[in-house]
Amino acid sequence: MKKIVITCKLPGGRYEELLADKNFETVVLNDEEHMNLAATLEKLSPDGLISMLSDKIGADVLAKMPDLKVVSNYAVGFNNIDVQYCHEHGITVTNTPGVLTDSTADIAILLMLMTSRRAGESEKYAREGRFKGWAPEFFLGKSLAGKKFGVLGMGRIGFATAKRARAFGLDIIYWSRRRNEAAEKELGAKYLELDEVLRECDFLSLHLPYVPELHHMIDAAKLKTMKKSAIIINTARGQLIDEAALTGALEKKEIYAAGFDVYEFEPKINEKLMTLENVALLPHIGSATEETRSEMARMVIDDCTAVLRGEKAQNIV
Ligand code: GLV
Ligand code: GLV
Repeated sequence: MKKIVITCKLPGGRYEELLADKNFETVVLNDEEHMNLAATLEKLSPDGLISMLSDKIGADVLAKMPDLKVVSNYAVGFNNIDVQYCHEHGITVTNTPGVLTDSTADIAILLMLMTSRRAGESEKYAREGRFKGWAPEFFLGKSLAGKKFGVLGMGRIGFATAKRARAFGLDIIYWSRRRNEAAEKELGAKYLELDEVLRECDFLSLHLPYVPELHHMIDAAKLKTMKKSAIIINTARGQLIDEAALTGALEKKEIYAAGFDVYEFEPKINEKLMTLENVALLPHIGSATEETRSEMARMVIDDCTAVLRGEKAQNIV
């Protein structure tokens, strides 16, 4: 019988179905097994693996699973997996594109609002019982309408975020590795060189996958070219930004504010960053809705079991 390892419990009905499916032996790791992932996977030697974005599935780990046919990653991003190794060894890699586009775009907009209107700071203030009366200059933030919303990476999530930003009256400028005609036609998005987007934008929202060529694509030098009033939003991958450099710029008010859902050394968050008021910090919840996470579970399970039955997966990387 084919063995499937899921590195942690998933939400939704399809997961319960798989656990009851007598055609597969399904093992869900407990916390201790999950913490010792490489040794656990070597011992269990699965035919199919359902992994999380926080699981590092490098060549060293993959080499310990000689029967492995498929890795289904419970995420749209797959920079945690050595895909090249998989391709060279006949291991199919799948992901969960499409279903988390709207929920992630919602979180990018949430961060835009939180940072521009100082929502985290003022919510904390009210919660602490410090609200003693309305005042004209109390928690002044920044207006949205008429400002420039810069998108880096105009794929599905970039597009969905830009569409929402349009509804707030922002004008869209973007840089992407590929031009996006739909964004230009439907949203009036203007394609610019990366440096021009950085120079002109009032908001900068990242929607690129992490690949080594984009490591620290926003570094200290790039931050210096941006407006001091700019707000940066990252719902993509932390390693795209030099987090220490951005923290320094935020501290010195060389960048107005930043909203983070992802971190360079996740789950560790830069300690200095946690002390700043002009940031909004979320714990990587871009896709975290009941609907989206259940649908992601259906996708990884359908694809993993399809490959093990000798059929083609739907969402091959
Ligand atoms: C979330 O970060 C994902 O890649 O799905
Ligand atoms: C991911 O779904 C993207 O293409 O932005």
